Amino acid sequence: MAAAEQQTEILFSAEEVATRVEQLAVAIADTVPRDVMILGLLKGCFVFVADLVRALDRQGMAPSIEFLQVSSYGAGKESSRTIRLKSEIPTSLKGRDVLLVDDIQDTARTLVFARDLLQEQGAGKVWSCALLDKPSRRQIEFEADFVGFSIPDVFVVGYGIDYAEGYRHLPFIAKIV
Ligand code: IMP
Ligand code: MG
Repeated sequence: MAAAEQQTEILFSAEEVATRVEQLAVAIADTVPRDVMILGLLKGCFVFVADLVRALDRQGMAPSIEFLQVSSYGAGKESSRTIRLKSEIPTSLKGRDVLLVDDIQDTARTLVFARDLLQEQGAGKVWSCALLDKPSRRQIEFEADFVGFSIPDVFVVGYGIDYAEGYRHLPFIAKIV
């Protein structure tokens, strides 16, 4: 299987990620309401959300947790311009304060798409959080409110993030070299 044969190099160890997630939780708890709705963008966010909500619990937060499946990359390494909604909107968003959570902020098309969708659905205040940020790749003017690590234009995998559906299980974040 081609995807399994790529060379990888660790960018952030599991320990480094864990430390950063705790710090993000402190910043989030300082800003968003205690009962905010976490809306994770699948699939890349699943490990991050799992760790983040437990870190938020340690900060005294009690968020509700929902997911939305969106797709942009397909099987390749290049983001497509069209973001598609691949799941139903999970629950009524009317008046709800929402924290969007994604794995990577790249062109920012995905977060902007999700934010616009929330606004169309009548959500209350919307914040966004991305574990990784590639500022050099931005195509739309948008910055997530909370960012874990800023990285150069490299292709990363692990900690939920895939290349052709592989590597999501890795406990660390690596780049494909
Ligand atoms: P954006 O819409 O261009 O900001 O893309 C964001 C989405 O692209 C992320 O949620 C990821 O799923 C995917 N993506 C961007 N960069 C990478 C990468 O380096 N590895 C794997 N997926 C990526
Ligand atoms: Mg994604």
